[in-house]
Amino acid sequence: MADHDTHHYDQLSAFLEELWGEGYLSPGGPEEVSRVIEGLDLTGKRVLDIGCGTGAITLSLRRDHGAAQVIGIDVEDQVCTLAQERIAAAGESHAVEIRKVTPGPFPFEDQSFDLVFSKDSIIHIADKEALAAEVFRVLRPGGYFAASDWLISHDDAPSPEMAHYISLEGLDFNMASPARYHRALEQAGFEEVATRNRNGWYHEVALEEMKTLTEQRTEFEARFGAELIAENIATWTAMLEVLATGEHCPHHLRGRRPA
Ligand SMILES: C[S@@+](CC[C@H](N)C(=O)[O-])C[C@H]1O[C@@H](n2cnc3c(N)ncnc32)[C@H](O)[C@@H]1O
Repeated sequence: MADHDTHHYDQLSAFLEELWGEGYLSPGGPEEVSRVIEGLDLTGKRVLDIGCGTGAITLSLRRDHGAAQVIGIDVEDQVCTLAQERIAAAGESHAVEIRKVTPGPFPFEDQSFDLVFSKDSIIHIADKEALAAEVFRVLRPGGYFAASDWLISHDDAPSPEMAHYISLEGLDFNMASPARYHRALEQAGFEEVATRNRNGWYHEVALEEMKTLTEQRTEFEARFGAELIAENIATWTAMLEVLATGEHCPHHLRGRRPA
């Protein structure tokens, strides 16, 4: 990353954490994490967190949900460093580990996790079929995959409004439909495959976020710069359009590797 890009990335992460909570690079806070893993008992379990970001959720899987060991993986140096610092400061380095990985197969043995978790990160992984097969491979029999991700409602080309929104995000967004995830998980061998649409919830939350952004625009501009705030107001405006139509539909995904 060039210096300008690095600065922009730092500022963007800081801005998102201001909006979503310290250590959170996705919306919903601890409550939404609890909903993703609803009904699953993590006590004493070994957990993989794909796309751990700056690590607040990775840490919470251990501290608030009782996992014995959590490994968070991410492809970005900066977020891995921040996550490691957060975990060390919490005194949990013995039980929570962060690993920088390269995209592709996971560097873990077969059947080595009880739960594979992910929050709003697998959008960056294009090959959903390979992802499902990898998640299945590293899960122990009877283990669960429980994730949240940002989906598109259909398998056709994105509408012009959706294409515009994706271009504003400026990230490698590989949005897949609930049907594609469902198929990929079943083909990989998962049972009890379930998808839960969170569009209604996030639409409401995003309207509130937009209200905060516009009402406190001057304060946000002073802290993060006028350019970054203008960019994000444009992104949120475009996102709200496709949340309103339901084309942008965050989902929870679930599957169980047969015992
Ligand atoms: C929107 S952030 C979410 C981070 C965290 N799960 C959270 O909710 O706070 C997405 C994260 O996925 C990471 N990521 C992107 N591609 C990845 C890949 N192929 N494998 C693992 N992580 C990836 C990014 O670096 C980023 O930290």
